[in-house]
Amino acid sequence: MNKIYDFNEQNLALAAQTIQNGGLVAFPTETVYGLGADSFNAQAVAAIFAAKGRPTFNPLISHIAEIDMLSDLAVPDSRALALAKKFWPGPLTFILPRKEANSALDLVCAGLPNISIRMPNHEIALALIKLSGTPIAAPSANRSQTISPTTAQHVADSLGDKVDVILDGGACKVGVESTIIDLTTKDVVILRAGGLAKETLENFLGEKVLLSHGNPDLPTSPGQMLKHYAPKLITRINVTPDMRQPNEFYIGFGKMDCDLNLSSKSDTTEAAANLFAYMHLAEQQTNYPQIAIAPIPDEGLGLAINDRIRRASYK
Ligand code: TXA
Ligand code: MG
Repeated sequence: MNKIYDFNEQNLALAAQTIQNGGLVAFPTETVYGLGADSFNAQAVAAIFAAKGRPTFNPLISHIAEIDMLSDLAVPDSRALALAKKFWPGPLTFILPRKEANSALDLVCAGLPNISIRMPNHEIALALIKLSGTPIAAPSANRSQTISPTTAQHVADSLGDKVDVILDGGACKVGVESTIIDLTTKDVVILRAGGLAKETLENFLGEKVLLSHGNPDLPTSPGQMLKHYAPKLITRINVTPDMRQPNEFYIGFGKMDCDLNLSSKSDTTEAAANLFAYMHLAEQQTNYPQIAIAPIPDEGLGLAINDRIRRASYK
């Protein structure tokens, strides 16, 4: 079935409704096409990872349509606000401290205390975000390890069977991803060079901007999860129901007796959406001194889940 829709009022309404219902909408931005879902809907965000076949929960950029939406999600200082006024909408993404512990944003942030945000410079993207009434989390709309899409047809070729709606906006003007800058440190650091030049930033700020030497597509951020999510309680993984000890809070998967079930129907996408929230709950409960987690198959998002819980169980 052809998922590519022309941009008109009716199709925009369909796309916004799809976002509100937890579906996936590919949409054009000035950089590349994004694969979008409601940032506040963990199940929908998990579906993005599943559709892309991403092996880990890399944090995702939340796209907003007004500068006012920034302080709903993050704690922008005067430097961030000045940059936003100057360069938004545009191909520049900020890493900022998250506003507060809002567990609905845990998956989009991959458990990090920071959030990445940008306002895309594209009529269709802005209209979609506004009509959906929520920030839209979106990585590039391609399968993991393939080239980023700059036309609706690229998206259809790569993800046609996984996405609900592809809004067609022609070819992307910028065509490379946004420049990502870390604004949580004293110096501004570029984590990924992109659509906005370093010099342009330096001219505006009147100071040197540093360039991170990490792999731009593999920032150190996802690894920091390890620290962030090292639970305070001893955690064992791959624990089958018969192996569970009486002092363990038990997080299950599939049909079984347990304290919380990641997915009773053994759906790894549903499990991924629940994972961060359940790990928080397990840590907060006071009935058991330890945590045990049932085996999760290494299929679909199971690989990413196992990567995360392996870190969580690491002593
Ligand atoms: O131009 C773009 O930025 C496009 C369009 C769709 O907006 N999006 C995009 O997203 O390129 P994606 O997911 O393919 O790349 C975003 C990068 C990832 O490498 C991710 O690890 C990093 O940004 N990132 C996201 N949130 C982060 C955070 N809180 N801390 C550090 N890095 C982060
Ligand atoms: Mg990408």
